[in-house]
Amino acid sequence: MLPEVRAAARTLADAGVASPAHDAEELAAYVLGVPRSRLFVLSALPDKAADRYAELVGQRAARVPLQHLTGVAGFRRLELAVGPGVFVPRPETEVLVSWALSVVPAGGLAVDLCAGSGAVALALADEGAGLRVHAVELEEHALAWAARNVEATGLPVTLHRGDVRDRSVLASLDGTVDLVTANPPYIPLGAGVEREVAEHDPPAALWGGEDGLDVVRAVERAAARLLRRGGWVAVEHADLQGESVPAVFSGPAWADATDHPDLSARPRFTTARRT
Ligand SMILES: C[S@@+](CC[C@H](N)C(=O)[O-])C[C@H]1O[C@@H](n2cnc3c(N)ncnc32)[C@H](O)[C@@H]1O
Repeated sequence: MLPEVRAAARTLADAGVASPAHDAEELAAYVLGVPRSRLFVLSALPDKAADRYAELVGQRAARVPLQHLTGVAGFRRLELAVGPGVFVPRPETEVLVSWALSVVPAGGLAVDLCAGSGAVALALADEGAGLRVHAVELEEHALAWAARNVEATGLPVTLHRGDVRDRSVLASLDGTVDLVTANPPYIPLGAGVEREVAEHDPPAALWGGEDGLDVVRAVERAAARLLRRGGWVAVEHADLQGESVPAVFSGPAWADATDHPDLSARPRFTTARRT
């Protein structure tokens, strides 16, 4: 391993970064413009790259998210543009997408609420057979990132600026949608989060009111309106909400409310079928 990368990993570990060796390698690969696997055949960083590398390691040590420094986040088969003003898509959300793809019919109609960078909507459009996908996002800055990702991928996702709490959002689709997905803001006010999250993810992407469920309840109302009979909803939540979110989907509009774990076996998303 390059000595500069070993030293950077130590710096990042001392700064409290959760995956210091991984991030040190990713930044070196980014600066050199090579895949991470190529780092192991190099013996030193060229001077110019070393200066840029030191600068980026300093920013990462100050807890700027890795994805803001490289400008991209991997999500399923896609590489999405991200940066200030948009939530960085997380690997745990990929499991929700797998489930959604397993229930949505070929050629079906899907709506992703709280779209952020467009990660979920774009992955559905990328991997689903002939899906038509609409995505709704409240924040202008996030929507601009989503628009950039839709354009770069060329995938069939139609973006809408809208508020899930507004009962007329996408009203023209009422009763016709096969699948509604959402990764809404769900952190209860006052809960502790890592520095990267607190300082760099947009507040609108994080906080879900007193119990974290304000936007989840709005998603339930919107999904009940949008879905056809037998259509499915999937909503991501925090690991402590594995009972409270299924309870939101316990009314007569819903059947089969079920909670699902992520790859670390923590409660991560609730699904339910429209009666
Ligand atoms: C946790 S992020 C998820 C983004 C993306 N779906 C993902 O998984 O990476 C939540 C997103 O919901 C948006 N949002 C928050 N409140 C909303 C509302 N009332 N209506 C629509 N979008 C909302 C935020 O701006 C943010 O982009």
